[in-house]
Amino acid sequence: MSRFTRRAFLLTAGVAGALAFTGTMALAELPALAKKDKYKVGFAQTESNNPWRIAQTNSMKAEAEKNGIQLVYTDAAGSAAKQVADVNSMIAQGVDVIFLAPREEKPLIPAVMAAKKAGIPVILLDRSVDPSLAKPGEDYVTFIGSDFIAEGKRVAEWLAKNANGKSKIIELEGTTGSSPANDRKKGFDDAIKAAGGFDIVASQSGDFARDKGRQVAEALLQAHPDADIVYAHNDEMAIGAIAAIEAAGKAPGKDVLVLSIDGGKEAVQAVVDGKIAAVVECNPRFGPKAFETMMRYAKGEKIEPWVINTDKFYDSTNAKDEIADAY
Ligand code: AHR
Repeated sequence: MSRFTRRAFLLTAGVAGALAFTGTMALAELPALAKKDKYKVGFAQTESNNPWRIAQTNSMKAEAEKNGIQLVYTDAAGSAAKQVADVNSMIAQGVDVIFLAPREEKPLIPAVMAAKKAGIPVILLDRSVDPSLAKPGEDYVTFIGSDFIAEGKRVAEWLAKNANGKSKIIELEGTTGSSPANDRKKGFDDAIKAAGGFDIVASQSGDFARDKGRQVAEALLQAHPDADIVYAHNDEMAIGAIAAIEAAGKAPGKDVLVLSIDGGKEAVQAVVDGKIAAVVECNPRFGPKAFETMMRYAKGEKIEPWVINTDKFYDSTNAKDEIADAY
């Protein structure tokens, strides 16, 4: 059972227990979405500092335009506080629905609750919130996104088969407190432990950013000169790590294996060039699924708690053939 499903299950069990105990406790209703000819919809983006975010934003904007939907777009520029303010501004503007990509799991809870209180349905995109504080089907409609635990696990499973004696891992984590950083760490660490024979010598946040990833990799490679694997939670940090490995006089792909998640064109090209060993895609093309889910909700359909995106996988066996389709 994934972390998301497991946590949702425990919460549901907890709520059921509370209901049995009080006998009268009523759950607050999720706001409904009226059928309309024209919708005004908010999309509160986290930041725009990498190709993944840009691909996600472009997909949302293109699909809104295709469906004649007015999109109120905001970019929180990497600040959870600004993202909360962005959602509050969307509430004040009277949008019909808010698509939210919450930067971190906890700080965006007040924004989700404020929208609910204002009667505006929220759909979480790509990142989730802490399920002990807000729940799909009750506080927000659903979470649309990849299985981040599975992404981390797929990297570990590839490594267990293809490490060729390499074993000392530097892990570059994503933004602290974000659901992809939490889950990609859990999926990878658990699977690598189960595989046996590997040692995570250091694990530190590079904030999903290229230059921060480079700086952190540089410091960790100095502290652990015997490290021969870098697992980065996204492409940007992997590309930063390649620069750090080369600056240390080592060859990425030979002396140090680099593994990544996202699957942008630059990273897939690095697989073709032999600098990245394997990449698990995290599909950023959210537009069609996001607006289709919104329209299903407007029709009164009960939406599943998690609308799952499927992800590809790239390594030397397919990167050249698949690169044309990478974003
Ligand atoms: O939430 C998805 C992650 O966020 C992507 O892996 C990363 O590149 C982005 O910033």
